[in-house]
Amino acid sequence: MVDVYNIKSPFIGENVILRAIEITDLEEIMKYFNTYETRLGLGNIIPFSSKQEEDWIRRSIENYSKGIEYNFVIEHIETKEFLGTCGIGSFSTTSRSAELGIGIHNPENFDKGYGTDAMICLMKFGFRIQNLHRIELGVYSYNERAHHVYKKLGWKEVGRKREAYFLQGKYYDCIIMDILEHEFEEKYGKE
Ligand SMILES: CC(C)(COP(=O)(O)OP(=O)(O)OC[C@H]1O[C@@H](n2cnc3c(N)ncnc32)[C@H](O)[C@@H]1OP(=O)(O)O)[C@@H](O)C(=O)NCCC(=O)NCCS
Repeated sequence: MVDVYNIKSPFIGENVILRAIEITDLEEIMKYFNTYETRLGLGNIIPFSSKQEEDWIRRSIENYSKGIEYNFVIEHIETKEFLGTCGIGSFSTTSRSAELGIGIHNPENFDKGYGTDAMICLMKFGFRIQNLHRIELGVYSYNERAHHVYKKLGWKEVGRKREAYFLQGKYYDCIIMDILEHEFEEKYGKE
């Protein structure tokens, strides 16, 4: 029999923890979320107001209660520094599939392993807690860091929305990537 008490929490990574979003996170979100480099990765460079972000937090909490979407704060496990947010939503209960998104907010925190760490937690949540069969994401073709991280973690490119995003005079593809339950298990085991 599996001893569930000896299985590590999927919300705890090497250096990050995924925790619930609070209304009080608004101040931290507003510090770096509108940074151009961060917003480039997310594919929407138009700055968000604090009211829009507060609405997003409130919606996240409501959607969590309805089981529609689960967004988390990525926090440093020791310093408790707010690093960003991530989540899974757009669930199809029939196909057991969903979509994933992630953002480390302060560019000074890029390339420190936090995104990789948080992605592994989020995949564990998706496959082992939500019992998903498939998770999908979209990444803009210029976002080479994110593309590299997803490939490293076992995600596969399944197609491209060609020239789907116009930015500063040029069109960029949106690369669709996914990972299946068995691929996740082969790479990360069952616990
Ligand atoms: C994309 C993102 C989640 C990655 O998280 P991160 O913490 O910065 O990344 P990590 O430190 O875990 O890993 C970075 C990896 O990318 C590599 N990398 C960095 N810049 C790169 C580039 N220009 N091209 C290719 N690889 C690059 C690093 O060498 C490292 O590789 P390694 O793990 O094999 O050594 C984070 O940078 C982020 O949130 N960016 C802003 C928003 C965003 O783009 N979100 C994703 C939308 S799809």
